[in-house]
Amino acid sequence: MGSFWKGFTAYSRAVTKRQFAARALTVYPDDTFLVSFPKSGNTWTRFLACNIIDPDHPVTFAALESRIPEIYDVTDRALRRFPRPRIIKSHEAFDPRYKKVIYIVRDPRDVAVSYYEFQLKRRVISEATSLEDFIPIFLESGIEPKIGNWGDHVLSWLATRQGHGNFLLLRYEDMKLKTQEEATKIANFLGFDSSPERIARAVDLSSFDRMRKLESEESRQWKETRKTRQDKPFVRKGVAGGWRSTLPERSVAQIESAWGHIMRMLGYALASSVQPRPLPQPWSSAGVLAGDAVRQSS
Ligand code: A3P
Repeated sequence: MGSFWKGFTAYSRAVTKRQFAARALTVYPDDTFLVSFPKSGNTWTRFLACNIIDPDHPVTFAALESRIPEIYDVTDRALRRFPRPRIIKSHEAFDPRYKKVIYIVRDPRDVAVSYYEFQLKRRVISEATSLEDFIPIFLESGIEPKIGNWGDHVLSWLATRQGHGNFLLLRYEDMKLKTQEEATKIANFLGFDSSPERIARAVDLSSFDRMRKLESEESRQWKETRKTRQDKPFVRKGVAGGWRSTLPERSVAQIESAWGHIMRMLGYALASSVQPRPLPQPWSSAGVLAGDAVRQSS
């Protein structure tokens, strides 16, 4: 769509009060948010949450937006009509109105590759843009400037909420390694039955293979994939550490140089010889991230 039509559409949406909710979302005190930088495993987490909440009605892509809506393609008015308590997907950087948050983080080297592939799928970039060309755009948050880059996003939430009772930090890599355990955390956080049987069923219903199959049947019914290239799947590789075989050395060094200090804090071992800047004092000394998140991932 040309910029005139984009502007016209935005204007007419504003006049008719049909703007998408985004930052103007009405937030209720009993809302829970699934927040992440894009391509960090948010859709998988949405599936897990839906299948934990209602295992008798397994979620599909076609039904996903009616169970856990996101804030970008839906009006605030429509979201206000959702049954409460709501669970909402968001990519926003820190928003003080979000009181209860599941925050999903993923190694930015894998995020970079996934994000690149997704922009190809969306036709935002063409095959003429190489992955190596894409990395400076990614580092500068050139695709979605409103949410900031990966480092801005992660720090905005961790600096404000890490350690709070109403903040659950999940690492994509831990979800891959021990899905049952991480899904149990989700169930407990949401206040649902976390019996091993219920969690195992939710994990099964949200497996990579099942989601891939559902996508192949429903990609035209899900707003995220409807208008995108159908030759490239959204449920793509689903691995941790795939960047090792895909990301050029120079790109790895660029990412580690920009965010190595945050990556180390999250347990993502650096592969290049760059010297990332030190963490701010309270983090470098105190080990604010307890448990899994400080374990170095290989
Ligand atoms: P890749 O592109 O690396 O494969 P988001 O939903 O936040 O946009 O994240 C998309 C990423 O999550 C994609 O990563 C996708 O393949 C991965 N993903 C989706 N469903 C998954 C599942 N059930 N298990 C593991 N990874 C999954």
